[in-house]
Amino acid sequence: MTTSSSRTKEHALAHYRAEFPIFEEKIYLNSCSLGALSTRVEQRVADFHSMWHARGASAWYDVWWEALGELRDGYAQVIAARPSEIALHASVSTATAVLASTIDYRSRPRVVTTSLDFPTVAYQWFVKRPAGVELVVVDSPDGISVPVAAIAEAVDDRTALVATSHVFFTSGAVQDIKAIARVAHENGALCFVDAYQSVGQIPLDVHDTGVDFLCAGGLKWLLGGTGIVFLYVRDELTKELVPTVSGWFANERQFEFDLREIVWHSDARRFEQGTPALSSVFTQLGGLEIIREIGVPTIRDVVSDLTEDLITGAQSAGLKPKVHPHPDCRAAIVMLPHDDPGGQVKRLADANIIADARPGHVRLSPFFYNLKEDNVAAIEVLTA
Ligand SMILES: Cc1ncc(COP(=O)(O)O)c(C=O)c1O
Repeated sequence: MTTSSSRTKEHALAHYRAEFPIFEEKIYLNSCSLGALSTRVEQRVADFHSMWHARGASAWYDVWWEALGELRDGYAQVIAARPSEIALHASVSTATAVLASTIDYRSRPRVVTTSLDFPTVAYQWFVKRPAGVELVVVDSPDGISVPVAAIAEAVDDRTALVATSHVFFTSGAVQDIKAIARVAHENGALCFVDAYQSVGQIPLDVHDTGVDFLCAGGLKWLLGGTGIVFLYVRDELTKELVPTVSGWFANERQFEFDLREIVWHSDARRFEQGTPALSSVFTQLGGLEIIREIGVPTIRDVVSDLTEDLITGAQSAGLKPKVHPHPDCRAAIVMLPHDDPGGQVKRLADANIIADARPGHVRLSPFFYNLKEDNVAAIEVLTA
């Protein structure tokens, strides 16, 4: 699947495709699972390994420590937050486990989520049921989205938290998180947003949304691979929250090694745990460099166009994409109902097209390195 010069003119970002070697052999349409690996990221990781060879642990004292700060800054910029509002984590699971540990559930035992959210988020509260936490799951009427009114109905003065997604991994629908945060706050509850499927593809001004906590990371739309995410915590809230799941990176005086005392960081680092995986940190720094160089609004324009092209192409070929009715509320995840999604994904793989399956659906997700001809090729296989 080489890229000819006429193809690279297809859209404003098509020239970036050359930085992603997977396209030399394959068509990649699975960014909502794992963003493609770029040569820029490979170089950052190679540089990290060279540094490790050259300096061993002494690199911690300048280059590597500074890289952690650089990453918190980079994550903050991409969601228009302050660096002091960013904690680094290994996964959404670890980030939400710490967040869940800061809440006093005695007078507010309820946590409200939806049936379309990613299970790992709900599990943080599911496992606390023996301690009296009530997990309320609001159902989706159509498997695509959940009306804000239905969420509002479930939130009451016994609710501690509303925990839901910005973009549903199940349908690609974009939620109105500003309205959901308002519902939570009107009832005295807090609001956590799992934005793993949005940050990098959907522009986000986190302060404007009013949410209290937000998570995203490298794996998908930030091109940074596995093992690195961030937890945003609104500055005004940080000092009110004391984690009961922790680690030495939460301690402002971590290098005093005093096991009898934790002096909590006054910023979001108080929600961190242990030593970050440095190779993931450098992978993510490389991916973020590309995302910030292009800018998320530009990415959104190009990717929306590719997504709409995929949807209309699929419809014209007789497929029935299950997507949000309003294009503005669609992200780059296109679910195509099928009786044998696993079989279809295998057929795509045999044609050198990488896609994915979820129960009852083939899932295709284009990003800025895709071309409309990738959509055409996938639809051809799916309808052959
Ligand atoms: C919306 C969403 N949240 C969370 C995760 C993963 O969570 P974790 O980092 O705990 O593996 C995924 C997928 O990998 C996801 O799509």
